[in-house]
Amino acid sequence: MIQLKNVSKVYSNGMLALDDINIFVGQEEFVYLIGPSGSGKSTLLKLIFMADFPSQGEIIIDRFILSRIQRSQIPFYRRNIGMIFQDYKLLSKRTVYENVAFALRVMHYPTPKIKKQVQHVLELVGLEDKMHSMPNELSGGEQQKICIARAIVNAPPILLCDEPTGNLDPDTSWDIVQLLTKINTRKTTVVMATHDTEIVDGLPKRVIAIESGQVKRDQQLGGYVE
Ligand SMILES: Nc1ncnc2c1ncn2[C@@H]1O[C@H](COP(=O)(O)OP(=O)(O)OP(=O)(O)O)[C@@H](O)[C@H]1O
Ligand SMILES: [Mg+2]
Repeated sequence: MIQLKNVSKVYSNGMLALDDINIFVGQEEFVYLIGPSGSGKSTLLKLIFMADFPSQGEIIIDRFILSRIQRSQIPFYRRNIGMIFQDYKLLSKRTVYENVAFALRVMHYPTPKIKKQVQHVLELVGLEDKMHSMPNELSGGEQQKICIARAIVNAPPILLCDEPTGNLDPDTSWDIVQLLTKINTRKTTVVMATHDTEIVDGLPKRVIAIESGQVKRDQQLGGYVE
């Protein structure tokens, strides 16, 4: 569950990036976050990931009230959130396997469990045969799938995707979104910021449109909510 109550974000240069946002996303929903460049989509995802902090308002993620989480506890909170960036942030000197295993190693999972979970998510994204490849030996779409595998390897209840298809051709983009849908049906809430109208129209889901930091439209499948 993701809840934003009267959330505003003013950057230190005075830019009002989010302006009194109220959003509720239930467990297991799939939501597209759309809006023009600069409307506040990435800012919103960053606040949920605790990569930055709201200037006003409250964010509640499942049992967490984010304003009550101490900075030293943020890494533990983040175990509940998978995050996928537009620009693949894979570790270039490590294999695919190590990239995906990294978060589990940090959490001191036992090696056999790491192996099992990494294999499982690589199978899910269809790239188990690339386990021993280096990131620069993969195509852009494959790298993005590895990022998805990495984000879901510890089965977080929430997956945030910031323009996950931004650099990909239409077929590969479609592949990625099908994969996110599959992950969503495995009881993961998915929020996907996107400019890709072909996908939003081709695979209808709830759409939250933001403009100038405000919610302009919140459209459930088949009708408006607000
Ligand atoms: N660190 C920052 N400091 C100051 N202003 C920022 C910062 N990050 C973003 N902004 C500004 O906040 C506004 C919202 O930015 P944001 O990145 O959230 O937009 P976006 O909807 O993700 O855009 P895009 O579709 O281009 O990715 C923009 O005007 C941007 O210039
Ligand atoms: Mg953005």
